[in-house]
Amino acid sequence: MAGKSILVFAVLVLAAVSVRASFTPGRCPVVPVKADFDVAQYLGVWYDIRSYFTIFQAGVNCSRADYTSLNATHVRVNNTGTKHNKKGEKIAINATGVAYAPNASIPAKLKVKFDNQPNVGDYWVVDTDYSNYAIVWSCKNIASGLFHISYSWVLGRNSNGFSPAVEGTIDQLLAKNNIDATLYEEVVQTGCVNY
Ligand SMILES: *[C@@H]1O[C@H](CO)[C@@H](O)[C@H](O)[C@H]1NC(C)=O
Ligand SMILES: *[C@@H]1O[C@H](CO)[C@@H](O)[C@H](O)[C@H]1NC(C)=O
Ligand SMILES: *[C@@H]1O[C@H](CO)[C@@H](O)[C@H](O)[C@H]1NC(C)=O
Ligand SMILES: *[C@@H]1O[C@H](CO)[C@@H](O)[C@H](O)[C@H]1NC(C)=O
Ligand SMILES: *[C@@H]1O[C@H](CO)[C@@H](O)[C@H](O)[C@H]1NC(C)=O
Repeated sequence: MAGKSILVFAVLVLAAVSVRASFTPGRCPVVPVKADFDVAQYLGVWYDIRSYFTIFQAGVNCSRADYTSLNATHVRVNNTGTKHNKKGEKIAINATGVAYAPNASIPAKLKVKFDNQPNVGDYWVVDTDYSNYAIVWSCKNIASGLFHISYSWVLGRNSNGFSPAVEGTIDQLLAKNNIDATLYEEVVQTGCVNY
C-alpha cells in the first residue's frame, strides 16, 4: 500500500516529536538557506509556533526544541512535547538526537539523526535573526521526484509567538524563499507539561 509506506516514511524521516508534513506533486522546490548561518547563535530553546499541517499529526502540543553544543561540529537536539496518554492524562514526550552540517561551507544545511531512528533527515535553516524567529525547511523527493514531502517550522524564542513587526518579517521571508505559508498550522503552546 503506497499510502501506508508513505506514512511509515514520513514518520521515519522526521522522527521528531511533532510530525507535520505536506505531500505535493513534483520535485522539491528550490528553497534558499541562510548564507552566513552561525550555529553558535542558534543554540538554545526554540518553540514551534507554526508548522506544516498533516493528517498524521500525533496530537502533540507544546513542541519545543533545545539545541546544545556537543562539540565543535555537532549539536545535541532535545525535542519535547505534551500529549495525552491512553488514560487521557497529559504526559511529556521527548526525542533526542544529533544535528550537523555535512558540508562546512553550507552551515545552514543541517542533517538530523534521532537516537531512536535509523534515518537522517534534512534540517535547513532558511532564515533566522537568532533572537526572535527561525524558518526551517525540510524536503524529500519521492519516487524520483514524482512528488515530494515537505516539512516546515516557524520557530520562536518565545512561546507566545511574535510581535506584529516580526510577523511581517516572517511573511516577507516566506514569500521571498518560495515557501508555501498556507500550509502552516498554529501549534498550541499552552497547558504544557514538558516545560
Ligand atoms: C562530535 O560528535 C560527533 C557525534 O558524537 C562525532 O561523530 C564527532 O566525531 C565529534 N567531533 C569531534 C571533533 O569531536
Ligand atoms: C530534554 O528537555 C527536557 C525538558 O527541558 C528535560 O527534562 C530533559 O532532561 C532533556 N533531556 C535531555 C536528554 O537533555
Ligand atoms: C492540545 O490543544 C488542544 C487545543 O487547545 C486541546 O484541545 C488539547 O487537549 C491539547 N492537548 C494536550 C495534550 O495538551
Ligand atoms: C523521554 O521519553 C522517554 C520514553 O520515550 C521517557 O521514558 C522519559 O521519561 C522522557 N523524559 C522526559 C524528560 O520527558
Ligand atoms: C560544499 O559546498 C560547496 C558550495 O556549494 C561546493 O562547492 C562543494 O562541492 C561542497 N563540498 C562537498 C564535499 O560536497
